[in-house]
Amino acid sequence: MTITFTEFKDQAKKILDIDLDGYKLDRVERRTKSLMRRYQVEDFAECIDLIKHDTEFKDAYLNHFTINTSEFFRNPENFEFLQSDVFPKLFDENDKINIWSAPCSNGSEPYTMAIILKEMGISPSKFKIYATDLDHTILATAKEAKYKENSLKNVSDKLLNKYFEESSDGKTYALKSEIKRMVKFEQLDLINARFKKDWDLILSRNFFIYLTKDMKDQLIKKFTSVLNPGGYFFLGNTEYIFSPEKYGLDKIFQSFYRYQNKK
Ligand SMILES: C[S@@+](CC[C@H](N)C(=O)[O-])C[C@H]1O[C@@H](n2cnc3c(N)ncnc32)[C@H](O)[C@@H]1O
Repeated sequence: MTITFTEFKDQAKKILDIDLDGYKLDRVERRTKSLMRRYQVEDFAECIDLIKHDTEFKDAYLNHFTINTSEFFRNPENFEFLQSDVFPKLFDENDKINIWSAPCSNGSEPYTMAIILKEMGISPSKFKIYATDLDHTILATAKEAKYKENSLKNVSDKLLNKYFEESSDGKTYALKSEIKRMVKFEQLDLINARFKKDWDLILSRNFFIYLTKDMKDQLIKKFTSVLNPGGYFFLGNTEYIFSPEKYGLDKIFQSFYRYQNKK
């Protein structure tokens, strides 16, 4: 018996325990169909059956659905601003700061911050970097911290030589443990989870683009409810918050908003 995409989505939501309604539906459907083509799956009924009974296919579905693209110093001008403006202000105003990369994918983003803070000569006792993602597989990659050149194209030779070790075949670069140990990773579904409080900088980059308008609105409210006054919210280059004042936020630079607690 065939089923419609809506029926598929409602069943998949329960099996995968992911709120698929929070994501842009046409995208979920496109991603589902492209995976079905790859695995020569006939229809949505067969697809749901495989998600239910075939662990390998279920993992492949999750992997395909969560786009894990990430790289060190992605959109470098924003990290320059972080170094020249955001971090100096935060350390001026606080003895210690808490940073959260949500979602963090393969770890390039939180490790970029660790490298910047190390380069600024800030003691690790002055900050915590917490990094979370929905996807277990990508978190394992993040913890392993071995990267191919495509994740490192914005890393200068100086930083590459200082913080990475090239493998003997030249194919991967392993991040040194002095940087690795600065980041704590955890699995977290941003849509369902309750958030921990007390953040001075939250990065949520290249995630809202996949969500519906309503889910984006709910998440901005959730994120700002755990940002400390004066804390920063850092989005992806193509992501915007319309009427930021509605959330107590001021836009201060390209992808940076500051929480002023004036709601
Ligand atoms: C494109 S990556 C963004 C990574 C990084 N922030 C960056 O900009 O380079 C999007 C990530 O969102 C994660 N993701 C998707 N849905 C999620 C959810 N409900 N909760 C947490 N992470 C999620 C995916 O696993 C993926 O790693």
